[in-house]
Amino acid sequence: MANQQGSFLTAIDLGSAKTCALMVEVTDGGLRYRGHGVAESRGSRKGVIVDLDKAVAAIQKAVEAAEDKAGAAVEHAIVGVGGAHIRGVNSHGGITLGTRPREIGRDEIKGAVEKARSIPLPPDREVLHLLPQEFILDGQAGVHDPLGMMAARLEVRVHLVTGASSAAQNVITAVNRAGVHVDDTVFEPLAAADSVLRADERELGVCLADIGAGSTELVVFLQGAVAFTGVIPVGGDHFTSDLSLGMCTPLAEAEKIKKVYGNAIVTLIPEGNEVEVPSVGDRASRLLPQRLVAEILEPRARELFEMLRETLRQGGMFDACLAGIVLSGGGSRLPGIFDVAESVLRRPVRLSWPTPLAKMPVSLAEPEFSTVIGMVHYGQRARVARGFQGDRWGSRLKALLVG
Ligand SMILES: Nc1ncnc2c1ncn2[C@@H]1O[C@H](COP(=O)(O)OP(=O)(O)OP(=O)(O)O)[C@@H](O)[C@H]1O
Ligand SMILES: [Mg+2]
Repeated sequence: MANQQGSFLTAIDLGSAKTCALMVEVTDGGLRYRGHGVAESRGSRKGVIVDLDKAVAAIQKAVEAAEDKAGAAVEHAIVGVGGAHIRGVNSHGGITLGTRPREIGRDEIKGAVEKARSIPLPPDREVLHLLPQEFILDGQAGVHDPLGMMAARLEVRVHLVTGASSAAQNVITAVNRAGVHVDDTVFEPLAAADSVLRADERELGVCLADIGAGSTELVVFLQGAVAFTGVIPVGGDHFTSDLSLGMCTPLAEAEKIKKVYGNAIVTLIPEGNEVEVPSVGDRASRLLPQRLVAEILEPRARELFEMLRETLRQGGMFDACLAGIVLSGGGSRLPGIFDVAESVLRRPVRLSWPTPLAKMPVSLAEPEFSTVIGMVHYGQRARVARGFQGDRWGSRLKALLVG
């Protein structure tokens, strides 16, 4: 198989429900789709690897399908991390350049950012992202790129995304064992933001909520920079398990019923509609009102958005999201979820679909692929920045500054 690593870029999203590999070619005209593969996730749950061998097998399956389609081998990839172990925190730091203003170079910027980064962290946690929000030059805030400017004191506000070291390392190990080197890791909703959020939303203030299978991951942008990240430990799987318990049906059947007949608004289901519900064991299946499905799903959806509202309030972000809340992820495909989100949050809400890549099949243009599609955009920006700066640290900083 041809090896065209130079012009190819691969992203791997190890979700709780599906593992997806996406290969793109970097052309003068932008990113062009070359191949993808999807495998049912076995071995990872809620962003954490629980069975290494199964996770490796799922990655291999997805990668092989992508390679077959693209006609090229995957050697390197950018990989997503997520899950309830992720925490976001804002920090601030700075350096004095001298008694008189001096020109700010890369080393000074690095020095100030390193100061902001040096917050006490438990030994089992690591910084996944260091996202500059603004630079402050001699007390003047709001500077996006201080390179070449003059100041006696340089300060920076940053948002740090931290995660459990073991969780991130296990994801890397699983991808390595599948024969792929990990170039970089990215917090999943940050990548999804690249494929669904618009620049004006990021400026005005917006929260992206990626409703996955195991959790709902959040990222808030204010004035173009990341102001908040968080994870709510509720995702589509919780809706499915509520149905399984409430209708006394196996999980796999509950999942099918949710996707075919589910709705998060009871009153949107006509009275009298019935659904055939398989039973557990040898018992015969039953005909139950379709409204019962919505009666089980609606409270879970309300709870999810109440948790979202409280999480944003506690982070001081709820009133700042003037452009509202954007929903992505497979969980956002539940009919009626938009209405519940609007009624609980009382903010503008929109559903989102990933901006398509050139030549991308329509089957990928669904909310559950926003993360993996965003990851190739993110990977490309990091690669460009690495070219400018020649180091990984610089690429991370730069990739996010231009974001
Ligand atoms: N049409 C649909 N209606 C309702 N729910 C759906 C629909 N399609 C997918 N889902 C749900 O979306 C979830 C999967 O979403 P997604 O593929 O974004 O998750 P993931 O990325 O694998 O998981 P995570 O991000 O939590 O690691 C599942 O819970 C699935 O039941
Ligand atoms: Mg996901």
